[in-house]
Amino acid sequence: MDNSKIKVAVLGATGLVGQRFVSLLADHPWFEIAALTASARSAGRPYGVAAGWVLGGNVPRSAAAIVISPGAAASLFEKGIRIAFSALPAAVALAIEAELREAGLAVFSNASAHRMDPDVPILIPEANAAHLELARGQVERHGGFIVANSNCTTSGLVLPLKALEPFGIRTVVVTSYQAITGAGRRGLPAFDIAANVIPHIGNEEDKLARETVKILGRSAGGAIEPAPFEVNASCARVSVRDGHLLSLALELEREVGAAEARRACEAFRGIPQELMLPTAPEAPLLVRPEDDRPQPVLDVEAGRPERARGMAVTVGRIRRSGRFLNMFALVHNTVRGAAGTSVLSAELAVRKGFVARRGGADSNLRETKP
Ligand SMILES: NC(=O)c1ccc[n+]([C@@H]2O[C@H](COP(=O)([O-])OP(=O)(O)OC[C@H]3O[C@@H](n4cnc5c(N)ncnc54)[C@H](OP(=O)(O)O)[C@@H]3O)[C@@H](O)[C@H]2O)c1
Repeated sequence: MDNSKIKVAVLGATGLVGQRFVSLLADHPWFEIAALTASARSAGRPYGVAAGWVLGGNVPRSAAAIVISPGAAASLFEKGIRIAFSALPAAVALAIEAELREAGLAVFSNASAHRMDPDVPILIPEANAAHLELARGQVERHGGFIVANSNCTTSGLVLPLKALEPFGIRTVVVTSYQAITGAGRRGLPAFDIAANVIPHIGNEEDKLARETVKILGRSAGGAIEPAPFEVNASCARVSVRDGHLLSLALELEREVGAAEARRACEAFRGIPQELMLPTAPEAPLLVRPEDDRPQPVLDVEAGRPERARGMAVTVGRIRRSGRFLNMFALVHNTVRGAAGTSVLSAELAVRKGFVARRGGADSNLRETKP
């Protein structure tokens, strides 16, 4: 163990998002994996055996020998773990994440369980870094805090919207074409999705609408006032492995031409870029000029440097049509849409003093109240 690093746990480490976490954390400059958890099906076995690794290459060496634990909150805290990255199913996450917060941990979650809690920020650090302040109230009430990630599709919508926010957003119409990995490891039978499109993803349209206005809302008095525009969403599952493609039609307060919108997207940067956080892409939005981009197969890994691959949202086909500005956006659903944003949020929380920088059993959130 490297005592200069902060000890972290990955919950739900054998799933699709859990494996992305392990891959991003295995060589992280600030964090060190000290525990991996999964269901009773996997507990007690070495991660390298139980994971059924799907990301190509080998299971990272630093994780392969870790024996998967059931992950009780008290035992994680006693091991000196201060951050839990959660890739649990929502139904399981509800109680476990609350218990970890009570034990004094900082929880960065991909589950929807606590997303709409008034004191839990849905953080996309380039869009709403200031919402991290909500964690302060949680620390006072519970000892630790929960920071949620948005739904994977929402992150692909919010980043272009944030870049265009200065033009005033009136209405957002979004149609998504979502990859099968979005449904998790045991998600969809091949019989249902092969060479097919399914025009329904449970609760997805509602999540996109509600989360987007929370993320782009104003933080005031310990709560978020939602942004005052409407999001009309239609979501479909398509036979693609990784990457959710979104078609956007935006009604803005001022008439914005394609060239001006393109420039705004290219110039867009956020706090993670300013702070040069380790998992921040150099540019959160990449603009493709070609008529037939972005495509999941060609653009899903967008983002530089190497450890930020999959962290950039690619936009293209920016065009004006009557009163609408239209474009496509592509987001990597398990990287920018899940594990990558959680890791970026944790980096921001460390830089802002919400989590002790030093590792070891003597550091905890109660000692380092922001
Ligand atoms: N896939 C995406 O693109 C995506 C994007 C954003 C957010 N999310 C959210 O992220 C979470 C994980 O998604 P996923 O796609 O990675 O799901 P997944 O592939 O189905 O993985 C689920 C993980 O949770 C573990 N688990 C299941 N039941 C458990 C229990 N009772 N106690 C402890 N661990 C349990 C599983 O362990 P076993 O292997 O032992 O069963 C596995 O490690 C979900 O909340 C999902 O909605 C997913």
